[in-house]
Amino acid sequence: MTQNTSKLIEIENLRKYFAVKGGGLLARRQYVQAVESVSFSIYKGETLGIVGESGCGKSTLGRAIIRLHEPTSGKIVYDGQTIFDSDAKIAVPMLPYRRKMQIIFQDPSASLDPRMTVGEIVGEALDIHKLCPGKAERRERINELLDEVGLNTEHANRFPHEFSGGQQQRVGIARALAVNPEFIVCDEPISALDVSIQSQVVNMLEDLQEQIGLTYLFIAHDISVVRHISNRIGVMYLGNMVELAESYELCNHPIHPYTQTLLSAVPLPDPEKNKTRQRILLEGDIPSPINPPSGCRFHTRCPYATDICKRDMPRLKEYAPGHFAACHKLEGLG
Ligand SMILES: Nc1ncnc2c1ncn2[C@@H]1O[C@H](COP(=O)(O)OP(=O)(O)O)[C@@H](O)[C@H]1O
Ligand SMILES: [Mg+2]
Repeated sequence: MTQNTSKLIEIENLRKYFAVKGGGLLARRQYVQAVESVSFSIYKGETLGIVGESGCGKSTLGRAIIRLHEPTSGKIVYDGQTIFDSDAKIAVPMLPYRRKMQIIFQDPSASLDPRMTVGEIVGEALDIHKLCPGKAERRERINELLDEVGLNTEHANRFPHEFSGGQQQRVGIARALAVNPEFIVCDEPISALDVSIQSQVVNMLEDLQEQIGLTYLFIAHDISVVRHISNRIGVMYLGNMVELAESYELCNHPIHPYTQTLLSAVPLPDPEKNKTRQRILLEGDIPSPINPPSGCRFHTRCPYATDICKRDMPRLKEYAPGHFAACHKLEGLG
């Protein structure tokens, strides 16, 4: 994987709130602040890993970037073209971008229509974007795609339930590839699969990336899944991006207290080191994103929190080349 330095996607202050009804008779409308003011770029050809505990907004972020969820506010630039800008109030026709940006879902069985054959599922993507007008050409392309993801051409006539989880995920990948995308959000694509086949699917995604020159946003709740395949890793906590750095740098020199906690829970390859290593335990539960803590969202659980942390939300700042974190303590203020 060689990293190109030109930006494919630039995200500025992206926010996604979901309206939910509060409890009680006089319930006011409340908002789940799933993604709050997130800014970062994704480089052409890279794999950017996104990690964080369940519910921290990883899927929402991935879906908002490709506008599968309409963002609440912020700006998204794709290859130099603004595709979302809440200030400009311009409606961008999304169909050309839908083809360039695809997603692979966590649960393959739930994301494939059980009434459609595999050939129909993959072919539907071709039809929506009018990519193969001729029947023979269309069949040929479906076969080619199934072959690319390690399935047989006779699989085209079967239904999703006839396949194992790993094969179903291959169908999901073939469907994403059908439209010749440039960017794929891989939303925990191996979490629901047997451990024995997880690495096969990851290797396949890596090979496809090499061959086609794809850019990935690779979401995982476990940092050990993405540390080897990502060029860079972003860590999320309660809707915020708290740290972002090159993968090796982040795993070996984490600077945000939350990332340090996450990494202290990852087993080390050396069992002796594991025994002596100190595990940092966080106090309390992860707060609700409906009424998130003021200031730094991590302050209620952070061992270093001071007054400013309760008051002001820290911004992501660069502390070493390419190494970003959002923390008042690092700014010398906390
Ligand atoms: N469609 C939705 N409506 C309301 N709340 C949602 C919706 N989707 C996600 N959420 C909430 O947004 C927060 C972030 O969810 P999600 O992005 O799925 O997190 P993750 O992928 O990190 O587990 C959670 O509190 C979740 O309950
Ligand atoms: Mg998710």
